[in-house]
Amino acid sequence: MMNNPVPVITIDGPAGAGKGTVSRRLAQVLNWAYLDSGALYRAVGIAAAWEGIGLDEPRQLAECASRTNIKFITQDTDEPKIYVNDKEATAEIRSELAGSMASALAAQPAVRTALIALQRSFQQAPGLVADGRDMGTVIFPEAPYKFYLTASPMERAQRRHKQLMEKGVSVKLDSLLHEIVTRDERDANRAVAPLRPADDAHIIDSTSLPIDSVIERILSVLPSHYRT
Ligand code: C5P
Repeated sequence: MMNNPVPVITIDGPAGAGKGTVSRRLAQVLNWAYLDSGALYRAVGIAAAWEGIGLDEPRQLAECASRTNIKFITQDTDEPKIYVNDKEATAEIRSELAGSMASALAAQPAVRTALIALQRSFQQAPGLVADGRDMGTVIFPEAPYKFYLTASPMERAQRRHKQLMEKGVSVKLDSLLHEIVTRDERDANRAVAPLRPADDAHIIDSTSLPIDSVIERILSVLPSHYRT
């Protein structure tokens, strides 16, 4: 990775800050590849659950992380389909349960190590937009452009609530807020690759900023030749 000249834009931040939408759209605008690193942790959580591996079994989890086959299939709509060991698992991956499982297993150093090479393999020409928690700090520390996207916990819970309602999933705002705050705490306080902005990251608070404005702000920082 250290000698890979392909540029990377990293977008890190807490759960529900809008990183997914922003990163996907940015990748579309630039015609670059997109890495949804959270989906990898979620997919490992699901594969582990399918295999009956508990969150308290670090060795088996790491081994599961290194052999799980995860595929993203782009389609016309915004979100790609995700296959885990050749089984479609898109809806399962996006569930709140998969999010908290991912957060629990992502705190385990061996699991994180097992996913490093896979994440770096997404760095392909002409460029990569990488979305996660440690993209700018650990996986792509040499990325020329780093962003840290955040928003207040209540704003993030409300966005998530709206998204789920639109999908016909009924869930209480209170429990979403609790889930988000718990996940932030665990992600920010773990020993390995904790959630934090890289020292050279541009910090964007999107609490009262629409997605389009966030994208505009990011584009205004990038060199114009990225868009050609
Ligand atoms: O971004 P998303 O909500 O899909 O991530 C799910 C969980 O995976 C996060 O709460 C975090 O614990 C973990 N994760 C991580 N490092 C990443 C991406 C996600 O630890 N780069």
